[in-house]
Amino acid sequence: MLIHDYDLRRGACRLAGLIGSVSLGLTALSASAAEYERGYALFQQHCAACHSHIADVWDKSGPNLNGLFGRRAGSANYIHGYSDAMRASNLTWELGSLMAFITSPAGVVRGTNMVFRGLEDAGQRSDLLCYLRQATAPNKTRMPGDCDDL
Ligand code: HEC
Repeated sequence: MLIHDYDLRRGACRLAGLIGSVSLGLTALSASAAEYERGYALFQQHCAACHSHIADVWDKSGPNLNGLFGRRAGSANYIHGYSDAMRASNLTWELGSLMAFITSPAGVVRGTNMVFRGLEDAGQRSDLLCYLRQATAPNKTRMPGDCDDL
């Protein structure tokens, strides 16, 4: 009988632990969802005038950003043509290089045609990249809200 009680209690404990970790997971997810929402607003405010990230949409004044992650800088089929500086930059777009580029485009690619001063706020940069990484994924395998590594 005693053993039985103990097992029951242990079971209840495990259940409580499980509920705890599920709600922790949800908190992390909603924090990331908020990051994504803020990133969306930042993209609209700072980038969308010059960039689309929707596949096969006509280029605006800047290149289409669909499929950005893993792509070599200056390598898309961009109707207006990249600057020599961008083509010669030898960068591949991933978190680190994008973080640096949006901090100071002209500082990272000296001679770029992209007329944008840069985002000074590190929190805004990670929100923007949270959004950008998911919105530019060609096959959209990343679920919105999955930005724990940013
Ligand atoms: C005033 C227009 C303008 C704004 C605003 C702008 N861009 Fe650009 N962007 C460009 C142009 C033009 C290029 C091509 C630059 C070159 O060839 O040197 C470019 C290039 C890029 C590239 C390199 C793409 C590639 O295919 O190699 C990335 C990444 C990028 N922009 C991201 C952003 C992000 C993120 C923002 C917002 C924070 C932004 N841009 C704001 C015009 C703009």
